[in-house]
Amino acid sequence: MKVDELSKPFERPGIEVLFDERAIVTRVAQLGAQITQDYAQKTPLTLVPVLKGSYVFAADLARHIDLPVHVEFIGVRSYGSSQVSSGEVQITLDTKHPLEGQHVLIVEDIVDTGLTLAYLRENFATRRPASLGIAALLRKPSRTLIDVEVEYVGFTVPDRFVVGYGLDDAGLHRNLPYIGAYRA
Ligand code: IMP
Ligand code: MG
Repeated sequence: MKVDELSKPFERPGIEVLFDERAIVTRVAQLGAQITQDYAQKTPLTLVPVLKGSYVFAADLARHIDLPVHVEFIGVRSYGSSQVSSGEVQITLDTKHPLEGQHVLIVEDIVDTGLTLAYLRENFATRRPASLGIAALLRKPSRTLIDVEVEYVGFTVPDRFVVGYGLDDAGLHRNLPYIGAYRA
C-alpha cells in the first residue's frame, strides 16, 4: 500500500488514535521482514490467526512474509465480562489440518492478561508442531497475569481498552484503520 493511498481517518470523537495507519503499516512490515528472516529455513510456515480479533493484522502480516505460508484459523472465546478475561478459554473453531510437524506461528491481536495465549501455547504444544511461536500485534504489560513467551510484538499499549484494526468492543470498531483508545 502506498502512503498516499491510505484511507480517510474514520474519526470517532470518543476514540483517541494511539497508532495511525501509517505507523501500523510500517511496524507490520518490520515484523514481516523479521519473520521472513527467522523462518527462512523453517518452511512452509503455518500461520494460525486467532479469530476474530487478529483477522486484520494477520491479513496484513501474511502479505509481508515472503515465504511459502499456510493459513489455518482458530477461534477462541474466553469467559468473563466483555472487557476482562477469566482465563477459562473455549475453542469455538479449530484448525482444519493437523499441526503435527508444522512450523506454527500463532497470530493474536493482544496479550492482555496472557491467559488466552498461555492456554493456546499449551494446547498447541500437545499437537507436536515442529516449532511453535507467537506474533501479537499488541501487548499490555500492566495487566500481565501469566508471563507467556511472545516472540513478535507490534506495539506496547498502556492500561487502556483499545479498539480498531481488528480489535472490538462488544463486536464494534474492528474496521477502524487505526488502533485507538476510549477517551477518559
Ligand atoms: P487475555 O487477557 O490476554 O487472555 O486476552 C484475551 C482477549 O481479550 C484478547 O485476545 C482480546 O481479544 C481481548 N482483549 C484484551 N484486551 C483488549 C482490549 O484492550 N481491547 C480489545 N480486546 C481486548
Ligand atoms: Mg482475541
